[in-house]
Amino acid sequence: MNILVTGGAGYIGSHTVLQLLQSNYKIVVLDNLVNSSESSIRRVEEISGRRIEFFKGDIRDYNFLDGVFSSHKFDSVLHFAGLKAVGEAINEPIKYYENNVLGSIQLFKVMQKYNTKSIIFSSSATVYGNSNNSPLKEDMPTGIPTNPYGRSKLVIENILADLYVSDPQWCITSLRYFNPVGAHKSGLIGEDPRGLPNNLLPYISQTAVGIHEKMFVFGNDYDTPDGTGIRDYIHVMDLASGHIRALEKYISKRGVHTINLGTGIGYSVLEVIHAFETVSAKTIPYDIIDRRPGDVGVCYADPSKANSELDWVANRGLIEMCKDTWRWQSQKLLL
Ligand code: NAD
Ligand code: WQD
Repeated sequence: MNILVTGGAGYIGSHTVLQLLQSNYKIVVLDNLVNSSESSIRRVEEISGRRIEFFKGDIRDYNFLDGVFSSHKFDSVLHFAGLKAVGEAINEPIKYYENNVLGSIQLFKVMQKYNTKSIIFSSSATVYGNSNNSPLKEDMPTGIPTNPYGRSKLVIENILADLYVSDPQWCITSLRYFNPVGAHKSGLIGEDPRGLPNNLLPYISQTAVGIHEKMFVFGNDYDTPDGTGIRDYIHVMDLASGHIRALEKYISKRGVHTINLGTGIGYSVLEVIHAFETVSAKTIPYDIIDRRPGDVGVCYADPSKANSELDWVANRGLIEMCKDTWRWQSQKLLL
């Protein structure tokens, strides 16, 4: 099977590319490297012992995409390429809609032209909005995501659903990720945010290595046991294996398939900080400050659809997530 991976140099993409290679898929990676570098591709080659065909380019560039598709016949596309920083999206909404929505439209147009009508799209739990209560289930109505990043994801899910209505040959899968964390055991690939991290785990791990003097916990007055926000953290290797299962199941199954990828278990901010302190043997200084606007208290998945339809479970726990993040973060300073 020939698979095109957009955004394959990025955090989730690189871990998935590794597992695709280990499962003997033939792959081509395309990325404009706006939030990654070619070194992640080289490291995946090092771990897997396989060469990767890589095109540097932008999904907004129709002619570039046309060139890639005219020289390859793809059975499916794993579509990771996108911008994902919520704070940046609030300040620069046009950039987000242009990159994520317009870029995806160009990709879907080229896929139609070359009759590649199978796609797995990186969606997000953010599409449930703030009005549904956890555990979140795929048949709940999508809500209104609280920021332009989230709304760009929902727009793309809706465009894909419309594509299927217009042409039932399409095989569409939207995977709604919860909170991806962790890294490959080698410590060679992992999440490498540019600038100040938005997300909890990168902030904790950067504080543990001393990049930040302390961190901030956004609110301890939620209706949760310790008052801090609860999320469904999922190890990136479990997330990657969810893509392999989704590909096996849905690559040529017509329809729109929507699947949560989460563990179904929620941890609070303080539980994560304390687990990280245990595995790193470092103290992580933090201040409690006000809630972050747009945050919900509790968000976790009902993963039963993925468990039954994909025969997949996320089986790496919080300690392993923290250990693998810590190995990556501490080794990164030496790479
Ligand atoms: P990432 O930034 O590490 O990876 C995204 C990759 O896409 C990067 O390598 C970037 O250079 C590339 N890219 C961005 N715009 C592009 C463009 N116009 N053309 C070509 N390449 C482009 O992010 P990630 O965490 O690996 O996320 C992958 C996907 O999963 C994204 O679509 C993201 O929205 C989605 N997602 C991520 C999370 C999360 O918390 N990490 C949660 C839910 C969904
Ligand atoms: C987790 C918890 C914070 C940082 C975001 C996006 C979502 C998806 C995943 C892409 C919350 C708290 C965080 C910090 C803190 N991304 N926190 N101090 O907000 O669940 O989801 O990433 O699709 O769309 O919105 O993840 O890691 O930012 O926060 O106290 O410095 O940690 O309040 O309770 P979130 P997060």
